[in-house]
Amino acid sequence: MSTTSNTPAADRPAASQLPSCKVSASPQEAPASPPGKRPAPPCTLVIFGAGGDLTKRLLMPAMYNLAVDGLLDDGMKIIGVNHGERETSVWREDLHKSLEQFAADKASTFHAGKLDDKAWDWVAQRLEYMAGEFETDDVFTKLKQKLEQTPGANVIFYLAVSARFFKPIVEHLGKAGLLKEGDSGGGFRRIVIEKPFGTDLASARDLNAHILSYAKETQVYRIDHFLGKDTVQSILAVRFANALFEPMWRREYIDSVQITAAETIGVEGRGKFYEQTGAFRDMLPNHLFQLLGMVAMEPPNSFDAEAVRDKKAEISDAIKPLTPDDVVFGQYEKGPAGVGYREEPDVAPDSTTETYAAARVFVENWRWAGVPFYLRTGKRLAARRTEISVQLKPVPFRLFRDTPVDALTPNVLTLRIDPAHGTSFDFNVKTPGPVMQIGAVQSSFDYADFFAERANVGYETLLYDCMLGDETLFQRADSIETSWCAVDDVLHPKAGGAMPVHGYAAGSEGPAEADALLARDGHAWRPLKRDAVQKK
Ligand code: BG6
Repeated sequence: MSTTSNTPAADRPAASQLPSCKVSASPQEAPASPPGKRPAPPCTLVIFGAGGDLTKRLLMPAMYNLAVDGLLDDGMKIIGVNHGERETSVWREDLHKSLEQFAADKASTFHAGKLDDKAWDWVAQRLEYMAGEFETDDVFTKLKQKLEQTPGANVIFYLAVSARFFKPIVEHLGKAGLLKEGDSGGGFRRIVIEKPFGTDLASARDLNAHILSYAKETQVYRIDHFLGKDTVQSILAVRFANALFEPMWRREYIDSVQITAAETIGVEGRGKFYEQTGAFRDMLPNHLFQLLGMVAMEPPNSFDAEAVRDKKAEISDAIKPLTPDDVVFGQYEKGPAGVGYREEPDVAPDSTTETYAAARVFVENWRWAGVPFYLRTGKRLAARRTEISVQLKPVPFRLFRDTPVDALTPNVLTLRIDPAHGTSFDFNVKTPGPVMQIGAVQSSFDYADFFAERANVGYETLLYDCMLGDETLFQRADSIETSWCAVDDVLHPKAGGAMPVHGYAAGSEGPAEADALLARDGHAWRPLKRDAVQKK
């Protein structure tokens, strides 16, 4: 697992000290990379879907951040492919405007403040636009001619497009000979594929087989952007770089684990996509299973890609296939946070698509057998909160039977992924005074208190790793398939028809049926809307 620079924003040159933004004719030198970090090798990044949201909001900001950190080689080129003719200068200007807007917007993932003009200039000079349809030969012929101008070029083909284009693009790349490695001087050819990687086990298998008929597994980088988050990568550091946690990280001591990815936003203009996908497919067998994998995997012997991915693959393989009984679906209705899902644009007025999903998952291995992992995700919930809470087993109560204490609050270690970054631990102490009274307290760590905040959209590490050929944070074909396999009975119930979808008010904690899912095991969800343990 490679890391990008952690150069704090404060250490970067102030924008006012840099030349104003313009694209100069002669290539500028890349900003120096920080000590101990090597720039990625020279490479051409071909982005299919250059006009799309992903490119604007995440890929270009990430490339810009890598340029600021000096982690790109002077030989870097970025070719943007999209349908519709336009001049490269127009594409550059569009991207520049979007980056400026996002940089200034505190609510945006890329809130870098003012753009560093020198870094943007460096990126802008390397941009080239190429018009073309993703399903016809023309653009691939043009690309081939272009790439042949640099014999042995390293090329990454980034599929930032709707999933229906994955197969035709890979097929065209393969047939045009663009995926052949090592023929003219040893350049690499890699394909980056965004989710959704299939919509169920059969389609994921079919997609894997299709891609692997044109490329080797080592050329395929399947992205799950959750793995680009520092707080997710840090799960392995918290678990394996400390003596404290690992001894109790097992069924003998852990009562249950809750993994939450709650959002306050609705479908945000993605009605068409969401109607086909739903919360379960959108988040569960990918993002939430990735978090589960990081929490549950055995320690690898190294951060070598295969060592880490083998351990994660063991977990997806050990997940007990979910049944419809283990899962609750919900859909938001009109509530304090706004209109119902069925009133959103591009959503059918009688839609039964779920915007919330909760599941009880078991990992059937020696470390975890019998420990429930409760997963939940949803739109328009009471709070934005992505976190993992590990609850320890209760301690024997007998010692406290003659004290005013009725019950002890369980110990919970919470790994906060987003939007707060850090950890907290709930435990009990004696309250001051002459009587043995127990008080629940919380000890908390916030990244911001220890490390300078970095402008990071989460794609920097993933892009940089792909350029370096480090596949640790990317998903292998086998893990994708075992994850879909674990949820296949929910997507295609053998009996009983479609899953029921329960209503919940927009802005609430989710459907009551999801509470009942935990209540039957004697558990309860941690409230989404909560403050840290109250200080007096
Ligand atoms: C995406 C889903 O993969 O992840 C979105 O398609 C979801 O529906 C998003 O909103 C959540 O990601 P993050 O990083 O904002 O928590």
